Amino acid sequence: MSKNFRVLASVAMAATLAATSACSSTRDAEESGSGDSGSNLVGIAMPTRSLERWNNDGAHLDGLLKTAGYTTSLQYADNKVDQQITQIENMINQNAKVLVVASIDGTALGPVLEKAANAKIKVIAYDRLINATPNVDYYATFDNYLVGKLQGEFIVDKLGLKDGKGPFNLEPFAGSSDDNNAKFFFNGAWDVLKPYVESGKLVIPSGKKIAGEEDWKTVSITGWKSETAQAEMDNRINSFYTGGKKVNVVLSPNDSLALGIAQSLESKGYKPGADYPLITGQDADLANVKNIQADKQAMTVWKDTRTLGDQVAKMVDSIVKGGTVETNDDKTYNNGNKVVPSYLLPPVVVVKDDIKTKLVDSGFYTADKLGL
Ligand code: BGC
Repeated sequence: MSKNFRVLASVAMAATLAATSACSSTRDAEESGSGDSGSNLVGIAMPTRSLERWNNDGAHLDGLLKTAGYTTSLQYADNKVDQQITQIENMINQNAKVLVVASIDGTALGPVLEKAANAKIKVIAYDRLINATPNVDYYATFDNYLVGKLQGEFIVDKLGLKDGKGPFNLEPFAGSSDDNNAKFFFNGAWDVLKPYVESGKLVIPSGKKIAGEEDWKTVSITGWKSETAQAEMDNRINSFYTGGKKVNVVLSPNDSLALGIAQSLESKGYKPGADYPLITGQDADLANVKNIQADKQAMTVWKDTRTLGDQVAKMVDSIVKGGTVETNDDKTYNNGNKVVPSYLLPPVVVVKDDIKTKLVDSGFYTADKLGL
């Protein structure tokens, strides 16, 4: 989508939401006879400020809903599950109409969401599915399996694996195991890479064996922390890359891990250039886009979080007005209790050559920020 079109589309959407929600809040006030601030309150529960993307996600959605006339409560929980539960409880007590929740632990919200259901509050799982509860109404996310598949395919293409090149030394990483997305990212990548591991064209010197369904957890990084990924990469290099053995490729599920992995490699003497390992990522975080410019990361899977916010704002509005909530996938995301109707958005691969056309021309980053 061109920049101008995107901007127009966003403005038009905010205007549509504003026009219609103004009516609905009047109606709500009349119906409840109160007009209290809770009457059109939308609660937005985000996991942490420590990762760039969640700051952008929260600010964008909050802005859209406010422009549309909603009252919002935007909360960040410092990656602490109890804190997030308390924040959601407060939103329920304030009579929120809808809760938008990007969970920290996808299995820990059952009891608090039961309270939400009792208070007739609808719940949208934002980006991450909420598991093991009937009380999640909708899910909006990017196609998580496709994110991993794009990373896997990128590795296959860049290494020339289809042309029989190899063997290459691969180190796989996965995201936080309490995040439902982590498994989808890993499976998407592994379904593409596994045949080359089996044929010996991809070798895993650290000896991580990923054969069974749950084995990805052996390479998962709790809390998606850069420091933990860095320490883990340090350990693998120290223990398994002796005698001149070199890392050729690292499957990193996202940018925060990729940052730690690149730092580890740098500290072990790897320098950008022909022998520098291929590192994947996700999110197009600023530091990582800069690393891509500096040839310290090969790619990132960009999820234009503005489009996710746009979609969720529309869902909120449809819920409040009693309209049909748009979904486009009603089979993939079973939360252990039910299949949650979902809206999946497409992720996009970004490499050095298309930083300008994809990230700058779309307005995601200014040229200034990237020194372009
Ligand atoms: C999101 C990723 C993000 C990761 C760490 C995942 O649930 O989908 O975009 O990198 O969490 O915050």
